[in-house]
Amino acid sequence: MKRKPYFQDPYRPLFHYTAQSHVINDPNGLLYYDGEYHLMHQYNIHNHIHWGHAVSRDLIHWEHLPPALEPDTIGQIWSGSAVIDWNNTSGLQTGKEPVFVALFTYNEHVDSQQSQGLAYSNDRGRTWRKYWGNPVLTSGGKKDFRDPKVFWLESGACWVMVLACFDHVEFYQSENLLTWRYSGEFGGGEGSPAGVWECPDLFCLPVAEKPDESRWVLAVSVNDGAPAGGTGMQYFIGRFDGSRFENENSPETALWLDYGQDFYAGVTWNGLPGADGRRLMIAWADNWRYRDALPTQLFKGQFSTVRELSLRQTPEGVRLCQRPVRELSALEDQREKMEPCRLSAGQCRKTALYAGALSFRCRLRPEDRKGRAELRFVYSGGEWLSIGYDFAGERLYVDRTHAGINGFPGVTGIHTAPMKLEKGELELQVLADTSQIEVFGGRGAAVLTDLVFPSSPDCRVELHSEDADLLLLEGEAASLRTAWPEKRACLPQFTQLLDGSWADVLEGLEGDCGGLGGIFTEEIVEDFSFSVNVTLKAYRERQCAGVWFGGDGQGGGFRVMLDWNQKQISVYQRKHRLKAQRFSLNLNRKYRLSLAVREKRLTVFLDEVELFVISLEDYRGGLLGLCVENTAAVFQEASF
Ligand code: FRU
Repeated sequence: MKRKPYFQDPYRPLFHYTAQSHVINDPNGLLYYDGEYHLMHQYNIHNHIHWGHAVSRDLIHWEHLPPALEPDTIGQIWSGSAVIDWNNTSGLQTGKEPVFVALFTYNEHVDSQQSQGLAYSNDRGRTWRKYWGNPVLTSGGKKDFRDPKVFWLESGACWVMVLACFDHVEFYQSENLLTWRYSGEFGGGEGSPAGVWECPDLFCLPVAEKPDESRWVLAVSVNDGAPAGGTGMQYFIGRFDGSRFENENSPETALWLDYGQDFYAGVTWNGLPGADGRRLMIAWADNWRYRDALPTQLFKGQFSTVRELSLRQTPEGVRLCQRPVRELSALEDQREKMEPCRLSAGQCRKTALYAGALSFRCRLRPEDRKGRAELRFVYSGGEWLSIGYDFAGERLYVDRTHAGINGFPGVTGIHTAPMKLEKGELELQVLADTSQIEVFGGRGAAVLTDLVFPSSPDCRVELHSEDADLLLLEGEAASLRTAWPEKRACLPQFTQLLDGSWADVLEGLEGDCGGLGGIFTEEIVEDFSFSVNVTLKAYRERQCAGVWFGGDGQGGGFRVMLDWNQKQISVYQRKHRLKAQRFSLNLNRKYRLSLAVREKRLTVFLDEVELFVISLEDYRGGLLGLCVENTAAVFQEASF
């Protein structure tokens, strides 16, 4: 076992959002306020489901913050949304800043009932409090009753909540975000019949070609039965008055947001200023069919890029289109053009550029409707991913069957989307990251998102004509830089592991262990003083972290432990507790733990305040270490 260096995971995306460690799924509580985009999300730390939290000023570089919400005595914190209560309708505002209000689903400990809870923040989302009167909406016995999307409906002068309820959505209204009344529902026989509905979203967008017209878009994720297999997202176009959603397509029309296998639980940001005017969506790039089978190590789960949504009039009706946000171009580094040319059957063009993350755009014109145009992302390990267009079948496809690890249970590796050429032209934009590919065809009219796990992410682009005569009108590749800040190893003196996973994350050195885990320096010390910052990362029923000393690195010696559960600081010699002092420890708060050992006497300080002194009769010196028990904790800024 070795200490894991910063981002050693070979599949760590360079520009798609991931948590540094543990498991993420749905994005939650997406909110914009005063220059900051908040991204919260399902954050599963040892089966305790939190809302993880990150903020960004540009939708590309994310700063990871401590989890916003942790599970409590009512239940686990499942998906939901957040709003800014500008007019303090909830009465929860305490300071000058407007209060942020989050509505989330409690998956209750008792009987797994689902109810809606409320939490609020009066400090720009840095700390959150749960509402004393939780839950604010109960299911009345319904089994699936979750994932509230809340927004302010100007025309109704009220808050609206959309909830996913098995095969339909329900609408609720409120004046104060605290009490809710049922106002209507939609679904049950509309769209794809397969799968349980989850994570709804509802918003209004203008139709690009008709500036005076707008439509409401109702997006729902369906848990199983999507075109590529497993989970996926469908949407409806229509009108909404606060109680009724009127679908303007026939009930059997199923419209899909993404035809790849890895785009789920996508929701949009609340609170973007009118002057920006964009509707931005991010999704969990994954599939419930194989979430737990993915080959990543330190982290599980990643998000799509943030996409700008728009509506376009097509001969079939008004349809949703998606483009990656323009901010992404800030990561472009080296560029290479593919010069315009004619490609006949069997011919190909290749970029010289190889990169771990790439963006590629092209425009092509086929001379007739036969054959295929195929882009191959060829990896340095010899595997390849194909993205192509079949001119006769009018289909865009992604084939990941040769792109490394795939073949996950119950799904295929070839995914197709129906797409028509526009004015006889094929337009494609592809974003390729270490373990994710997003394909936007026809200016975002057809989209496919797929995870890929090649043995090495470095790739170049080849454009092949498969039995077609093609004119390449434009082509450009750009390598993309990482969106992660640089980091040096934290506390490099600690190298010897005794159980647990120890990894360099942005905040410091993170230890994570189901039982008792430790990491030690190589040097034996006798009298010493040592200080380190300790932050508990995850809520659990039992949880301790601290400093280990005077042992052989194999389990012996003494431990000074911060015990969040018992709310005390304890000193142990092996399993035997020598001393415990009560102390009210908080989650998500950094504590400076300092120890001084002189002539077999230990003095313990917390946040520079002396707590107690005890004698250690059997102390003979030994290795110095850090330890975690039944939790994840981060250590920083050690001084010896
Ligand atoms: C969707 C979902 C939600 C639920 C959450 C639990 O992926 O199943 O319906 O709130 O995940 O993590």
